[in-house]
Amino acid sequence: MSFELALKEVARSFTSDDGVELKIRAIESTDSKALLGFFKNLPAPELMFFKHRVTDPEVTEGWCSNITLESNLPLLALDEGKVVAVATLHQNKGGWKRHIGRISCSVLPKYRQKGIAGKLVQELVDIGRMAGLQKVEAEFIDKQEGGQKMFALLGFTHLVKLEEYVQDMQAINHDYVLMGMDLKTDEEYAGMG
Ligand SMILES: CC(C)(COP(=O)(O)OP(=O)(O)OC[C@H]1O[C@@H](n2cnc3c(N)ncnc32)[C@H](O)[C@@H]1OP(=O)(O)O)[C@@H](O)C(=O)NCCC(=O)NCCS
Repeated sequence: MSFELALKEVARSFTSDDGVELKIRAIESTDSKALLGFFKNLPAPELMFFKHRVTDPEVTEGWCSNITLESNLPLLALDEGKVVAVATLHQNKGGWKRHIGRISCSVLPKYRQKGIAGKLVQELVDIGRMAGLQKVEAEFIDKQEGGQKMFALLGFTHLVKLEEYVQDMQAINHDYVLMGMDLKTDEEYAGMG
């Protein structure tokens, strides 16, 4: 099953822990401005967690004009049309990590600790499992402790820590942390019955 097909099983809405009704859906071609607004409202130091310059309109426009959900699936949570959280499931279709999905997640500060990232990441894990991925992983720096705790609650464990391995915008070194989880595929569950 492809990510796109598995996406049909994802909840369309979700109520956050403080009672706000959020819409959940995959990225669409018209989302460029909403995504740009989201990234511009993140604390500046957190922008280094993204591999692209996400506050540049060309980047969000590029994403929205070239959506490839089968290998890169950004799931958005929206509050009355405003993007408040983005979680992405990424798969390299070839190469030695093709059986592993990489998940990342970011939530606007005002919307944190309300269960939103937990919900989006769980949906992506379920999609990865339905799509036949064998593992999922997530990358962190040492001080992203809240994120590591959240992924641990969903079943991820610490796989490796490399001391002073990555650098932030100020060229300060940080420990690199890789977490991951093995997935049972639908076929394995079917075989268990
Ligand atoms: C990490 C992040 C995605 C969490 O989003 P969130 O929507 O606040 O997470 P949730 O509310 O679903 O958290 C679920 C649980 O994880 C734990 N958790 C989440 N953030 C935490 C924090 N900052 N400190 C301690 N525990 C935290 C809590 O146990 C929480 O449950 P609780 O609120 O009932 O105690 C958000 O803080 C963020 O965008 N941070 C910056 C980017 C980042 O670090 N991303 C993670 C790497 S991909």
